[in-house]
Amino acid sequence: MKILLTGSTGYVGKLINAGLGHRWDITGASAHAIPDARNFQCNLADAEQVRQLSKQISPDVIIHAAGDKNLARCEANPAGAYLANVQTTINLAQSFPDTRTIYISSDYVFSGDRGSYREDDALGPVTVYGRTKACAELAGLTLNPQFCVLRLSALYDEKATFLRFLRESLTRGEAVNCFEDAFYSPTYFGDFLIVLQHLVENPVLGRRIYHACGQRISRYFFAKLFARAANLESSLIQQGSRITENAPFIFADISLENTLTCESLDVSVGRHQEYLSFLGLTR
Ligand SMILES: NC(=O)c1ccc[n+]([C@@H]2O[C@H](COP(=O)([O-])OP(=O)(O)OC[C@H]3O[C@@H](n4cnc5c(N)ncnc54)[C@H](OP(=O)(O)O)[C@@H]3O)[C@@H](O)[C@H]2O)c1
Repeated sequence: MKILLTGSTGYVGKLINAGLGHRWDITGASAHAIPDARNFQCNLADAEQVRQLSKQISPDVIIHAAGDKNLARCEANPAGAYLANVQTTINLAQSFPDTRTIYISSDYVFSGDRGSYREDDALGPVTVYGRTKACAELAGLTLNPQFCVLRLSALYDEKATFLRFLRESLTRGEAVNCFEDAFYSPTYFGDFLIVLQHLVENPVLGRRIYHACGQRISRYFFAKLFARAANLESSLIQQGSRITENAPFIFADISLENTLTCESLDVSVGRHQEYLSFLGLTR
């Protein structure tokens, strides 16, 4: 199967290449890729560059994982966020109008006040990042009948920034404050790849919006689980509050729920405790 993977140089793109590159014929495209037989350098926010790209390749499926996920940068530069997240999606939908496209989206399309958001819940983004991701979802779903959305919570593997920070701080004996009043549903990279593989390889599934996420958990308890699994000093993880520490982009409960996805793809996802035990042993 021929795949065009946008954002191939990014964190998500590299996970896809490493985990599923053996199954598919993947061609990458990103703004600063080093061009070679398998990679295009292409600013996807530039409609003409995307048109040229569409003349050079005809993929069976596009996985659109290019974008800007830096919340502070998006807030400071909404126009840049629009280009990276929305315009890239519009350009792909217009230049590849009949190509099945899987858009990697985010839990930030929801407001983050009540949590357990379902695939069919109404959107309510409150950050620039979230608004541009929501806008990209709607644009893609409108322009391309073969467009579907795969929303993730924070992805984690052994290289995840948060886990590396925890490991390094706890190894140095430094205490770490983690919010006990902020819930989310972090996505284990293996679960993400299972869901993505199903979406790519099963063209007709009947739904257009999917969630790949883990169980709802507080940031504090997630850190505790990792510290215990990695045999690090878990008493150094201390309870913090997103309210007293004034964390602007951390919400009370931005967790996703995935029952509709699991039922329609016939998959089940695992438990953070098992995954963190595995990652705790991986250095
Ligand atoms: N990581 C997560 O936990 C997570 C969770 C939920 C959703 N997502 C979504 O997944 C997507 C990718 O996230 P990531 O973690 O892989 O981010 P990342 O590491 O920052 O990578 C971003 C990728 O997008 C490419 N890109 C950005 N603007 C582009 C443009 N105008 N034209 C072409 N390529 C462009 C970058 O290319 P260059 O490096 O070549 O510039 C890079 O390959 C984002 O849209 C994000 O919303 C990520």
